[in-house]
Amino acid sequence: MIREFHNIDLSDRNSFHVRQQAARLVEFETADDLAELFRNDPPQRWFVLSGGNNILFTQDFDGVLLTPRAMHIDVVSETSDAVVVRAGAGVEWDDLVAWAVERELWGLENLSLIPGKVGAAPVQNIGAYGAEAKDAIESVEMFCVNTLNRLILSKEHCAFGYRDSVFKHALRGKVVILAVTLRLSRHPQPALDYGDLRREVEARGGVTLHNIREAVCAIRRSKLPDPAVLGNAGSFFKNPIVGRAVAERLLARYPQLPVYPAGAEGRVKLAAGWLIEQSGMKGRVEGRVGVHERQALVLVNHGGATGGEVLAFARKVQAAVYDRFGVEIDAEVNIL
Ligand code: EPU
Repeated sequence: MIREFHNIDLSDRNSFHVRQQAARLVEFETADDLAELFRNDPPQRWFVLSGGNNILFTQDFDGVLLTPRAMHIDVVSETSDAVVVRAGAGVEWDDLVAWAVERELWGLENLSLIPGKVGAAPVQNIGAYGAEAKDAIESVEMFCVNTLNRLILSKEHCAFGYRDSVFKHALRGKVVILAVTLRLSRHPQPALDYGDLRREVEARGGVTLHNIREAVCAIRRSKLPDPAVLGNAGSFFKNPIVGRAVAERLLARYPQLPVYPAGAEGRVKLAAGWLIEQSGMKGRVEGRVGVHERQALVLVNHGGATGGEVLAFARKVQAAVYDRFGVEIDAEVNIL
């Protein structure tokens, strides 16, 4: 079923809480809903506004925002090893993680408490604590706006990368995600090698699914601001991927520089948070915006900031990092 809004205030629909408007917003559940919309009155300009956790509105949106509302979590098949689950695009991501953990199903626990909806997870291949959504995703169900058909794209065709997928490139503006199918394991497969995770899990009494979830939630809560309290969109920037020679040049000067494998030959990933902190920007406040005091990757709205103010400040942060290290850091959030 479709619900429609006109000239709607978006401040409660984006986690930065910037006060912009959309000319029209349509909440939908099914492919049929979208087929009706695109057949009868094809929008000139549209964008999917899911949980609004990874978006910065810098102006009013004059097109149609599409918000998924499908809330189902269904078991598609199960064996003694695994359970295949299909979740609607409108399910809160962390509700899906909690659902899996309650049923002793492994695979999503490291992704606990990531804000946002299931439909957004494949787009930026959400990741944290050594895991990425792509590790569990089997396929993505989507609506194609050109053919008005429902299509299923298997994981191999999703071109998943670090905070990246085909939905950001070839399929951008062509499809709307309806549901995601994930394979969860009945067998323990703990991944505890990231940062303090193992220590936090041991401190809770050892390796259980529940303890891993609790540990991840505790670490996130200690570092990341709650958008309900302080407007933000999680990591504003992506960790930059650079050539190994660039990293070696920097390491010679800054031996503390964190360097991670990038999954591509001759390339490595640097920690944008570290680069920003070393550029002196961590905790910096300018007017109504700032860099979060505990996690430099996160830009925050201290109250009443416009998207334009956040964007102008983001450019200053990028410039500070570039001036200091000669490295460009790109925004991770969608800027509209
Ligand atoms: N660091 C600093 N200063 C900071 C932040 C980080 O020096 O202010 C250093 C840390 O000490 C560490 C390195 O940078 O050596 C990496 O930091 P951390 O482990 O906290 O992870 P991150 O690279 O800052 C990424 C994701 C987060 C995710 C964490 C945990 C990106 C852009 N961000 O952050 O994702 O929660 O790893 O896995 O990849 C998000 O996408 O919104 C998000 C919060």
